Amino acid sequence: MQRDEALLREYYAAAPADISLSDIDLERVPSHVSIIMDGNGRWAQARGLDRSKGHVAGVDALRETVTTSVRLGLDALSVYAFSTENWRRPQREVDLLMHLFATTLVKELPLFHQENVRLRFLGDLEALPKKTYDVFQRGLDETSGHTGMIFALAVNYGSRAEIARACRQIADEVATGIIDASAIDEQVVAEHLYTTGMPDPELLIRTSGELRLSNYLLWQLAYTEFYVTDMMWPDFNRWEFLRAVRAFQSRNRRFGGVVAS
Ligand code: FPP
Repeated sequence: MQRDEALLREYYAAAPADISLSDIDLERVPSHVSIIMDGNGRWAQARGLDRSKGHVAGVDALRETVTTSVRLGLDALSVYAFSTENWRRPQREVDLLMHLFATTLVKELPLFHQENVRLRFLGDLEALPKKTYDVFQRGLDETSGHTGMIFALAVNYGSRAEIARACRQIADEVATGIIDASAIDEQVVAEHLYTTGMPDPELLIRTSGELRLSNYLLWQLAYTEFYVTDMMWPDFNRWEFLRAVRAFQSRNRRFGGVVAS
């Protein structure tokens, strides 16, 4: 994706001592970055606040992350906002999150228009409250013509459920003669996942120091580099994003092969 280098330099001007834009190679920025946004609750509790305040602060971190991704020229940013397991949280917190998703999306639509960002959702949206579902559909409709970065929100998403759903769809296609069982390969499976048409993430960032995948993009992360930061999600910012890209660029990606030294 194209980037405005002058704007990017200005955006990264006041750098902390340990990181600067010149630490990364702009020609090797990962095309798709995916993020497990974790630690909103702990961020709030550490400040004596209700967990909900952590989610509200998380929206600001997410807005900055979308802007950073556009400025760095990513093709795609995806974030894990709500898992199929998150329904087990107290009803009040679930309601707050659903409300926050809907209000944030409406509020941020002008940013998506301004930055030419195309929205996508990963997950089963049918189970969402009607208001949230309707706003998501509006977001999809209003940004479908955009040609810039894809911003994919994983909501009511679970990777095992996604793979089981793909299996059901493929089985149906075999049963009705659309494809032959012998033609099922990795490409066919990938085309039946929510991420169809998107490149696999090259970099996965997880905040709050947890070393787990939490049922997130199990298929798509097969060769992805991981960056785990102890920062809680509301503290995540453009500088930590740059540290993650710097770490990514320092890795030796072999995809199971060997690289000449
Ligand atoms: C993880 O923190 C965060 C979530 C489950 C929700 C993510 C939501 C946001 C960042 C709000 C904005 C999102 C959108 C799409 C508008 P946690 O509650 O699991 O934190 P904890 O592990 O400290 O309890």
